[in-house]
Amino acid sequence: MRLDKYLATAGVGSRKEVKILCRKQRVAVNGEIVRDSDADIDENNDIVTVDGVKVSWKAHHYYMLCKPAGVVSSTREGASTTVIDLVADENVKGLSPVGRLDKDTTGLLILTDDGPLIHELLSPKKHVEKEYIAGIKDRISDADMKRLEEGVDIGDEEPTLPAKVFRLQKVGTAAFLQRERISAQMPAGESTERVADEIHIVLHEGRFHQVKRMLEAVGNEVVTLKRIRMGNLWLDENLGEGEYRELTDDDLKLLKGSGSDMDDLTDRQVYETPIGPVCMSKREYADYLEEKAMRN
Ligand code: URA
Repeated sequence: MRLDKYLATAGVGSRKEVKILCRKQRVAVNGEIVRDSDADIDENNDIVTVDGVKVSWKAHHYYMLCKPAGVVSSTREGASTTVIDLVADENVKGLSPVGRLDKDTTGLLILTDDGPLIHELLSPKKHVEKEYIAGIKDRISDADMKRLEEGVDIGDEEPTLPAKVFRLQKVGTAAFLQRERISAQMPAGESTERVADEIHIVLHEGRFHQVKRMLEAVGNEVVTLKRIRMGNLWLDENLGEGEYRELTDDDLKLLKGSGSDMDDLTDRQVYETPIGPVCMSKREYADYLEEKAMRN
């Protein structure tokens, strides 16, 4: 990699600024001053210093955002604030959200510039679990919870895949305590006054408005929705809405080991779109292409 790109992506400064630093003999590679910012370096093994201080460089960047309501998940969207606007680390280019949350959905959203990981986490073959807390308008019966678990017709080619649906049970496991702490942060306010019941729902797929359409299919309605887990990675309960932090190495290990074993029961796959990779069925992709052609 070129030295100027390395220094710019590590956040040392713009390419122009790092060129000046090199000219001023403030940059060294493996202890040797390098005046030429075009020089090629080995980003994985060389030690680069500026004024004697080691530069830390990463191939990819990973953030966990606690998405607030009112912000869209796409990378560009007219005048609306996007999740990318919230992660205001100017030196990191090319971040995309891993999947999408509706504008009014809150909670866990991973943002990264690691394209292969995004594809892996969104791949329908990996069945990465997504856990949501849904505040719903009417009390839900055990029979309707069972229907949601078995799969319901939400108007797509296939019914939804088997899911897990439960109320928080008082058991002393670590996962229970984690859920309870996050659940305690559910928003209070006008909309929550309409909440008659609260359920956890764990999906192995990610269809458009899936939780809302599933509850609608059993005659109920989602009032508040918060994602609290993706695969093995939980939302950090210390993050307030709109706050984010970098993933630690341990978080990343958890996230990378998130696939679950299930047969591939749908024709869904990950397609590239201008707002990043999106998991769709062939029909949804055809609709998307048609809409795009009409817009152009
Ligand atoms: N399901 C929904 O209905 N909305 C989301 O934002 C995520 C899952």
